[in-house]
Amino acid sequence: MLLAFFVALFCGKMKVKKGKVKIMKNIINRRSIRQYAPESIPFEVAREVIEIASKAPSWKNQQSWHFVLVDDPVIKESLMESVPLGNPGRPALTEAPYVIVVLAEPDQSGELDGKPYYLVDGGIVFSTLMLAATDRNLGTCFIGWFDEATVKKACNVPSSYKVIGLTPLGIPLYLPEEKPRKSFEELTTINAFGKETE
Ligand SMILES: Cc1cc2nc3c(=O)[nH]c(=O)nc-3n(C[C@H](O)[C@H](O)[C@H](O)COP(=O)(O)O)c2cc1C
Repeated sequence: MLLAFFVALFCGKMKVKKGKVKIMKNIINRRSIRQYAPESIPFEVAREVIEIASKAPSWKNQQSWHFVLVDDPVIKESLMESVPLGNPGRPALTEAPYVIVVLAEPDQSGELDGKPYYLVDGGIVFSTLMLAATDRNLGTCFIGWFDEATVKKACNVPSSYKVIGLTPLGIPLYLPEEKPRKSFEELTTINAFGKETE
């Protein structure tokens, strides 16, 4: 396996890419989209986004996640009702052609030092889903402020699942400006806290 990798690399079949390759562009271009064009999108594209998301890593490859792909206007309305009025992402849940509810099953994932890994699995798969959608020029927005019981009732979710979040999926009405980010220096410690770098 390893030999095949190096043979492919040195024969030029695989090239280590430099600069902003597509995944980098998708990470940089992704925005939380809260306003959507009225046009629908093909079911196949929504399906592809979920299939690509499922390539995400997970605890022991348990893939503890599950997706509910919603296009039923009545269910979308109920999902919107699960979100408080003050949440800026609320209207998008009926505006966008699809809503994806991301679930994870704690029993399928692990727990270490009091850290339940279904939340990690769910976060990674959600992020991968948003990047897959960006690649198709589609908008998403992680909605994490919602009433879980209302979401579960709307989609008849079995009690073993937790709701990680919801996202609208559709064509962005416009691309918002990038939100400011903390700098490398603010975010990064070299080697250990409390030691000055040379
Ligand atoms: C865990 C989590 C929960 C979030 N919950 C909400 C939410 O309930 N409503 C909303 O409008 N945006 C929500 N967001 C989106 C953030 O506000 C957004 O990612 C952040 O402001 C940065 O903007 P950007 O995504 O355009 O880069 C959430 C994001 C994350 C990661």
